Amino acid sequence: MADKFMTVREALAQGKGKVQLRGWAHRVRTFNDKVFVVLRDQTGLLQCVIKPDAVKEAAFKDASKISQESSFIISGELKKDDRAPGGAELQATVFEMVQRAEAPFPIAKAESESPEFLLDQRHLWLRSRRMIAILKVRDTVLSAIRDFFRKDGYYEWSPPIFTPVACEGATTLFEVKYFDDIAYLTQSWQLYAEAGIFGMEKIFTISPCFRAEKSRTSRHLAEFWMAEAETAWQDFPALQKQTEEFICFIIKQVVEKNSEELKELGQDVEKLKKIKAPFTRMTYTEVLKFLKDKEKMDIKWGKDLRTVEEDALMKHFTSPVIVTNYPKEIMAFYKPVDPKDPKTALCMDMLAPEGYGEIIGGSQRDLDIKAMEKALKDAGEHADHYDWYFATRKYGSIPHAGFGMGVERIIAWLCKLENIKDAIPFPRTMLRKTP
Ligand code: 4AD
Ligand code: MG
Repeated sequence: MADKFMTVREALAQGKGKVQLRGWAHRVRTFNDKVFVVLRDQTGLLQCVIKPDAVKEAAFKDASKISQESSFIISGELKKDDRAPGGAELQATVFEMVQRAEAPFPIAKAESESPEFLLDQRHLWLRSRRMIAILKVRDTVLSAIRDFFRKDGYYEWSPPIFTPVACEGATTLFEVKYFDDIAYLTQSWQLYAEAGIFGMEKIFTISPCFRAEKSRTSRHLAEFWMAEAETAWQDFPALQKQTEEFICFIIKQVVEKNSEELKELGQDVEKLKKIKAPFTRMTYTEVLKFLKDKEKMDIKWGKDLRTVEEDALMKHFTSPVIVTNYPKEIMAFYKPVDPKDPKTALCMDMLAPEGYGEIIGGSQRDLDIKAMEKALKDAGEHADHYDWYFATRKYGSIPHAGFGMGVERIIAWLCKLENIKDAIPFPRTMLRKTP
């Protein structure tokens, strides 16, 4: 057998003639002594037919025993066939089993299985068309993030994952044994990135973050990936504009590269194409008024917006909305007061439509050490553990800002997922750390 293999995509592009492929048996059926196998590879599906008189006797014997998910090598002649997926069928002249899969495959009837069962079988479910489609979108999102920042002169920068302090409040910290001491898994790169900009000015990362979220929602993971940027000299209006451009850039790439996958996932590509910057911007105070007028929801000024309230707001929009100026008191210690409205902070959340919730959190960074020490003490934390961070404000301090986007949140939105767990290969939540 020749050692040159084609992918399904290459074979379908060629459309006819001799081809050789390798992959897995996605579907198997025998009919009138012929064996029909749908071959799956990284790029797609190809129907193959193995007839007794067309291949060696032993090969046909193997082929007749093929089971779902068996791995095999096949070559032959590609013929036009409108009924086959992709419009062509491979008529085998050579068939070689690589491994006959044990039967039955544990996920024989995916449609009738519960989401929990599919999560238990995730190591096998990753072969499904659905997971392949989502993970291709994920790949595009990850590369779009890098392309966006690189084109604007940002450097990719790597934060530590073991950290001595909280960034986003102590309640969601994961504590781990660290030799004879303890450490925490990082919640965000931010505090380190703020040190990083004094050398590199414009930096970004895509890295894992950990939060011991005790909420069993369809939006929270215990381990997720965050795309974060930190920018020297950036002010609050520039930050907001950047986050809009960032989201539009990612959507454009996903629409360009993954319209097939999006359709397979039931997403309306035309709808995504209509999302354009600038997005609607509202202050937290305006949101409360909006919810009171339109939804008869009475939210006390000073309370954080809950999921129900975010969803009630976003029912009225088809593009993301940037909500700014949340109450200073309930915000992380590093978010500075807005001098024009001192009860609020110079911070933003970007909310996605259709109930996908907050996709971005960002802010101007406080430069006032005393104010930050007070905010930490008010939150019951040890301000002295942050001395290294405060030191960055003592040597050539500059205005700066940054944001973080939940990678799985945007994937869940773009892929129209019911649960964020499908946006990552092996999800970790309060109730799941296996397989
Ligand atoms: O709003 P957050 O908590 O902001 C920060 O951590 C800042 N330090 C980021 C920065 O300015 N560099 O988190 C940012 C985003 C959220 O908007 C959300 O999209 C995502 O991270 N996120 C989660 N995604 C999945 N599961 C969780 N448990 C998440 N928590 C936050
Ligand atoms: Mg947030």
